[in-house]
Amino acid sequence: MDFPYSRLRRWPDVEADNLHAHDATDLLLVERALALGVAGHEIAVIGDEYGAITLALTDAGLDGVRVHQDLATGRRALARNADELGLSGFASHELDATLLDGARLVLMQLPKALAELEEIADSVARWAAPEVVLVAGGRVKHMTIAQNNVLGRSFSHVQAQRAERKSRLVVASEPRSVPSEPPFPVTAQHDGLTLVAHGGAFAGARLDIGTRVLLEVLGLGGSQLRKNSPESVPKAPNRPDIARSSGVVDADEPSPAPIVVDLGCGTGALAASYALAHPDSHVIATDRSAAAVASARATMAANRIADRVAVMHDDAGSELADASADVVLLNPPFHLGSSVHTGAATRLFEAAARILRPGGELFTVFNSSLGYRAELTRLVGDTEQLERTPKFTVTRSIRR
Ligand SMILES: C[S@@+](CC[C@H](N)C(=O)[O-])C[C@H]1O[C@@H](n2cnc3c(N)ncnc32)[C@H](O)[C@@H]1O
Repeated sequence: MDFPYSRLRRWPDVEADNLHAHDATDLLLVERALALGVAGHEIAVIGDEYGAITLALTDAGLDGVRVHQDLATGRRALARNADELGLSGFASHELDATLLDGARLVLMQLPKALAELEEIADSVARWAAPEVVLVAGGRVKHMTIAQNNVLGRSFSHVQAQRAERKSRLVVASEPRSVPSEPPFPVTAQHDGLTLVAHGGAFAGARLDIGTRVLLEVLGLGGSQLRKNSPESVPKAPNRPDIARSSGVVDADEPSPAPIVVDLGCGTGALAASYALAHPDSHVIATDRSAAAVASARATMAANRIADRVAVMHDDAGSELADASADVVLLNPPFHLGSSVHTGAATRLFEAAARILRPGGELFTVFNSSLGYRAELTRLVGDTEQLERTPKFTVTRSIRR
């Protein structure tokens, strides 16, 4: 019986008429895997957005398929879709040796960022079986020759297939010998701040210009990092319990320092800058991307603040308690996959409104063309503009 792709949902990711839970690339990858006849426990799937590939293979009777998904939302969608369809017998992994050990077939939805592809290609060449075949696929309109070139650094043989249903597969085989040190994570210094980045993290180890503008407005830019900045962020009157589940705050030891959340933390630039400038602070950095979370953890370790900054892999801070944060720092995404969709930013504004205590502050930086001020006022509370450059706007919203 054909796999019921149309029953798959993206939830808890944003759902909309123009956003789907599977695409033609998923179907091509599944068809190719079934034609190759490789056993389930020798197959690894990477970038299976909502579980379509893993679940279709499992439904076809393959047992022990391993899957890596970067996004917490994708992991939750896969678990939910599996429940709905009554499917089990696959296993989720991080992008590490356990995902790839002994794998003879790796199926991959091509990531957008070349750095992410480079890290994955190196991982496959490093950890999978020597005879591994990597079948990567994408929508033709998003594919570039540069992706083949990146694959060619880790595989001797890279062959693009004929496009079908507006998707294309690229088959890579004969892994090259890998360097002793993996190419990621990478590290960069920024005037007192060390950033560490895996391939999939936003902006790599660079300090994004929007992030920089927000840091400057908060008095946390450049040389101010290592000394206490002006009190742009107020002390909280009551100790919220936002960090109990994260272990940052001892539930029995109320602390006077405000709880600050870096929502969608990427490599953790905002969280680390705040924590460096405020040695007594309790900071939580949270992101839905596993690559971001691994990067942020490494950033905190590199800046020796890992004991004061909890890093959580979560969707829109869903594991943080209501009304429990004093301050939220936010540089929201404005692209959702390949379609421009502001739903991802809205989701984070709603999350900030939920986790901030009344009177708590949300500091947001966004592309000036996006004009989020009205939405922030509606969803969070009174919103004032603190800075506007030709490219970026920084606002402060007070939670009503
Ligand atoms: C523009 S980047 C900003 C990263 C970092 N705060 C900085 O300023 O460099 C936006 C980040 O939000 C994360 N993100 C998007 N949607 C999210 C969600 N629903 N929950 C948590 N993080 C999310 C992305 O993974 C990405 O790392």
